Amino acid sequence: MLRVMTGKKTLVSGIQPSGKLHIGNYFGALKQYVDLQDSHESFVIIVDLHALTTLQNGPTLKENILNIALDYLAVGLDPKKVTLFKQSDVSAHPELAWIFNCITTVPYLERAVAYKDANQKAKEVNVGLFDYPMLMAADILLYDPHVVPVGADQKQHVEYARDTAEKFNRIFGETFSMPEALILPDVGIVPGLDGRKMSKSYGNTIPLFATRDEIQKAVMSIVTDSGADIPENVYAIHKLFVSKEKLADFYESNKGKYKILKEGLIEDIDTFITPLREKRKALAEDPENILKILKSGGENARIRAEAKMQIVRDRIGVKLY
Ligand code: TRP
Repeated sequence: MLRVMTGKKTLVSGIQPSGKLHIGNYFGALKQYVDLQDSHESFVIIVDLHALTTLQNGPTLKENILNIALDYLAVGLDPKKVTLFKQSDVSAHPELAWIFNCITTVPYLERAVAYKDANQKAKEVNVGLFDYPMLMAADILLYDPHVVPVGADQKQHVEYARDTAEKFNRIFGETFSMPEALILPDVGIVPGLDGRKMSKSYGNTIPLFATRDEIQKAVMSIVTDSGADIPENVYAIHKLFVSKEKLADFYESNKGKYKILKEGLIEDIDTFITPLREKRKALAEDPENILKILKSGGENARIRAEAKMQIVRDRIGVKLY
C-alpha cells in the first residue's frame, strides 16, 4: 500500500500566486477547494517556484504569495483542515523534479501544450518553463493524492504526472500511486460583464473582494441589449448569487426595467461579497498570523514529503544511511 491511510481521500492542488481574483475564479476554483476540505485530506500549494518562471521580481512575488493566502483563507479555506503552504518551503519539490528530469526525455516535454504556446509567443523560453510539468509532477506525486482538482487547461499536466509516476515505478519499483485529475467546471460557466466568459484578459470581471463602489461600477457596465424583457447578461450573473426560483418574481415584475434589475443585482452581489471582504480585511490586519499559518503548513508538508523522499532516494540508489 503506497498511500498513507487516514480514512479520507487525499487531495493536492497548486495555486498560482498571481494577481487579483475575480468571481469567476471563485465559482470555478476556490469554492470547490473549500467544499472539498471536509471530505479530503488536502494539500494546497502556493506554487511560488512555478511563478518564478514568469514573475522575476522579489517584492511582487512576496506580495502575491501573501495575497493569495489571504484570498483563500477569506473564502473559508480552514488551515486546521488544509495544509496550506508554499512550494519553496519544501525543497523535496525541486529535488524530486530533478530526479524526474533524469527519466524524462526532451521530445516528451516538447509536446506540452503550455510550453508550445509559450514558445510561440516568446523566442527563448526559460528552462524552468520548459520543465514546468516535472515540478508539477513532483508537487503531486510527493503526497500520493487520489485527486488533483484542476481547470481543464491543466489536464495534460496531470497526465504528465501520471506518466511520470508510471515510468518511475517501472524503472525503480512501485513507489508512486496514480492520481486522478478532478476537472473543475470551466470558468466559462461564469459569464463576464459582456457575456463572454469572465476572464482577466477580457477585462470583463467583477473582483472577488470588490467594494460596493466597484460592484456598482461593474454592474452598471454590464452590456444590455435594449428591447429584451430580461437583460441576458444581467440575469446570467445574477443567478450565480441567487437561485432561479427566487429571481423569478423580481424579473417578472420588473420586465424591461434595466436600472431596477441592475440595482437588485448590485444589492445581491454586495450581500454576498461583504462578509468575504470583511473577513479578508480582518485577516490582513494580522499578517503575522498569515505567516504562522504558512510556516506551519510548510512544516506539515515537509514531514510528509520527507518520508516519501526517503523511499525515493533509496529506490534510485543514493541513500547510503
Ligand atoms: N499548473 C497549475 C495551474 O496553473 C498550478 C499547479 C502547480 C498545480 N502545481 C500543481 C495544480 C499541482 C495542481 C497540482 O493552475
